[in-house]
Amino acid sequence: MKRLQGRRAIITGGGSGMGRASALRFAEEGAIVMVVGRREAPLEETAAEVRAAGGTCLTHVADAGDEAGIQGAIDRMVAEHGGLEVFFANAGNTDSVKPFAEQTVAQWEGMFRDNVITAFVACKLAGSYMAANGGGSIILNSSTGSLRARGGTEAYGAAKAGVNHLTMTAACAFAGTNVRVNAILPGLTETGLTKPMFDWARANGKEDRMGKLTPMQRPGYVEDMAGVAAFLASDDAAYMDGQLLPVDGGISATHPAGKFVY
Ligand SMILES: NC(=O)c1ccc[n+]([C@@H]2O[C@H](COP(=O)([O-])OP(=O)(O)OC[C@H]3O[C@@H](n4cnc5c(N)ncnc54)[C@H](O)[C@@H]3O)[C@@H](O)[C@H]2O)c1
Repeated sequence: MKRLQGRRAIITGGGSGMGRASALRFAEEGAIVMVVGRREAPLEETAAEVRAAGGTCLTHVADAGDEAGIQGAIDRMVAEHGGLEVFFANAGNTDSVKPFAEQTVAQWEGMFRDNVITAFVACKLAGSYMAANGGGSIILNSSTGSLRARGGTEAYGAAKAGVNHLTMTAACAFAGTNVRVNAILPGLTETGLTKPMFDWARANGKEDRMGKLTPMQRPGYVEDMAGVAAFLASDDAAYMDGQLLPVDGGISATHPAGKFVY
């Protein structure tokens, strides 16, 4: 029996990166998947990959921070497939590094909207549906940048720290309903979000330095994140609630001191 057999799962930001990898992994584990994003074309690419691998994947165009749009996605999954047990609030965004004095309120508001508000909408709407229908698993996508400074821009780090608190708050809000809320905290992983960084490293012959300071001495792969998200979605994580799981090759557990010489 596959771990997510017959579960119905919505993944926001499902047109690329960790969202696409998670759609493939969830489907491989037996879930019926819906990918949500702002543009149809990348969602269709994900859906085509899932279908080619024998899975079921719906696409739904909506902004993950828009309540009506996300309610529409949930209603459609329920209408077409009869329920919803998993919601991966994966959508998120970062911005370019600027000196503090040049940062703007609009930039900070954008970071909070794409990272915290999207997660709040997921918790509120998917959690309410699941609470009234036997429970489920909500997974938020935070970042190791929420734990330490300079894991992204200041606004991004602050917003992801908000996602961490929301994880714990929402776990309490849904106490007694069999709705679990947990977060993954990815470390540096090559995706659309970090492509410029990886491209720069390649162009400058420094690719082998990416992720080198982690105990695992490599960057993350989207499949690393999808695997932990699938675990949290499954009953293997049935007693996990309100938890923040770094998936970062160990960097958040260490000082970036490189290799010990014994
Ligand atoms: N790549 C990394 O190194 C890294 C590290 C830590 C955390 N993360 C987090 O992982 C998550 C997935 O990002 P990724 O790295 O796969 O990058 P990505 O750019 O490939 O994927 C992010 C997706 O989210 C979508 N998105 C952003 N805001 C949205 C909104 N308001 N509504 C709908 N869709 C929206 C984007 O269009 C994109 O498809 C993000 O929350 C990101 O902050 C990434």
